[in-house]
Amino acid sequence: MTAKTTIIPIASGKGGAGKTFLTANLAIALAEMGYPTIAVDLDLGGSNLYSFLGLNNRLPGIGDFLKARIADLPELLVPAGTPNLKFLAGDGRTPFLSNIPYGQKIRLMSNIIKLPARYILLDLGAGASFNTLDFFRLSPHGFVVITPEYPSIMNMLSFLKNFILRVIEGNFIKNQRIRELLQFHYNQSMTEKQISIESLTSEIAAVDDEAGEKVIQLCRRYRPRVIFNKGEHPDDMKIAKHINTSLNNLLSLKADYFGFIFEDSCVRASVRKRIPLLPSYRQSMAAQSIGKIARRIVKFWDRHIENSDQLIYNQALSEYKGEKNLNS
Ligand SMILES: Nc1ncnc2c1ncn2[C@@H]1O[C@H](COP(=O)(O)OP(=O)(O)O)[C@@H](O)[C@H]1O
Ligand SMILES: [Mg+2]
Repeated sequence: MTAKTTIIPIASGKGGAGKTFLTANLAIALAEMGYPTIAVDLDLGGSNLYSFLGLNNRLPGIGDFLKARIADLPELLVPAGTPNLKFLAGDGRTPFLSNIPYGQKIRLMSNIIKLPARYILLDLGAGASFNTLDFFRLSPHGFVVITPEYPSIMNMLSFLKNFILRVIEGNFIKNQRIRELLQFHYNQSMTEKQISIESLTSEIAAVDDEAGEKVIQLCRRYRPRVIFNKGEHPDDMKIAKHINTSLNNLLSLKADYFGFIFEDSCVRASVRKRIPLLPSYRQSMAAQSIGKIARRIVKFWDRHIENSDQLIYNQALSEYKGEKNLNS
C-alpha cells in the first residue's frame, strides 16, 4: 500500500445501473490526473470490466488467486491502456466463483487493500450477496449507483439495509441472540411492513445494553455516496429529498451525493466499439460528469459535503442548460 490508499467500492441494488461503466471510466479519469490507480473486477460470476476498458477476457485474475494458481495478487496486475492505470481481472477464466468461502474472501480482501495504488476502484456485483456486502465494507464511503427510477431507489435502500445488517452481524459474530434477530430482517423487501434500524437497535439494546450503543456508533461510521446515472433531466435529482428521509428514518444513515451522469448515446457507442468512453468521447456529457466526480474524489473524499444534493442538482442544471444552448 502506498502512503495513502483510497478504496472505492462501486455497488448498486440492481444490475444495469452503470457500475462497470463508471468503474472503468472513473479509474481512467483518476489515472489521467496522475494518480496511480487500480480497477478491480470483483463482480465474481459476472466479470466484464475488461470489456469496458477495451481489454480481452483471457487475462488471469482473482479466480486464479482464489484457486491458488497464483499466490501473489500484484502479479496479476496488467497495464490498462492509460498511464498510471492497472487492471486486476475477475474470474473470466475461472467461472462459478460467485460463492467463495469466507476464509478465502478475507484473504482476498486483505490482499486487495495492500495493492500499490493511490486509488483502488472495486466493480461489484449487483444486489446484496454476502460477497458484495463484504466488499462494500472495505470503505466507509462506498458508491451506490442508481438510476432515477422508483425500483432502482427501492433496491438501493434494501441494499443499504442489508449492508447495515451485515455490518452489525460482523461485529457480533459470537452473539447468537443478536445474529438471530438480524437473520429475521435480512432480505425483507423495503415495501413490507418493517422495522427501522432504530427499532432494531432498541431490540438489540434490550438483549445487551452495550451492544445497542455499539450499533449506533457503527451506523455513524458509514456514509455512502450516491451517484445518479442515466439521468434525463436535472429534476430527476429532486427525489434525493425522499431518499434522505428514508435513509434517515429507516436506516439511521446519511449519504452524500457525488455525481449526476446524463443518459448519453456516446456511452452506448463506446460500449458497442468495446472502447472506454475516455478518452475517445472526452467531450461527451457523460465523460464531463465523470471528470467532475474524479475531481470531487480527489478534493472531498475525506470530508462530508453539506447540501450535496443541492450542489449536484445545480451542477447538473448548468450542464443541461449549456448543452441546450450548444444545440440551439
Ligand atoms: N450514462 C449512460 N448513458 C447511456 N447508457 C449508459 C450509461 N451508463 C451505462 N449505460 C449503459 O448501460 C449498460 C449497463 O451498464 P453497466 O455498467 O454494465 O451496468 P452494471 O455494471 O451496473 O450492471 C451499459 O451497457 C451501457 O451501455
Ligand atoms: Mg457490471
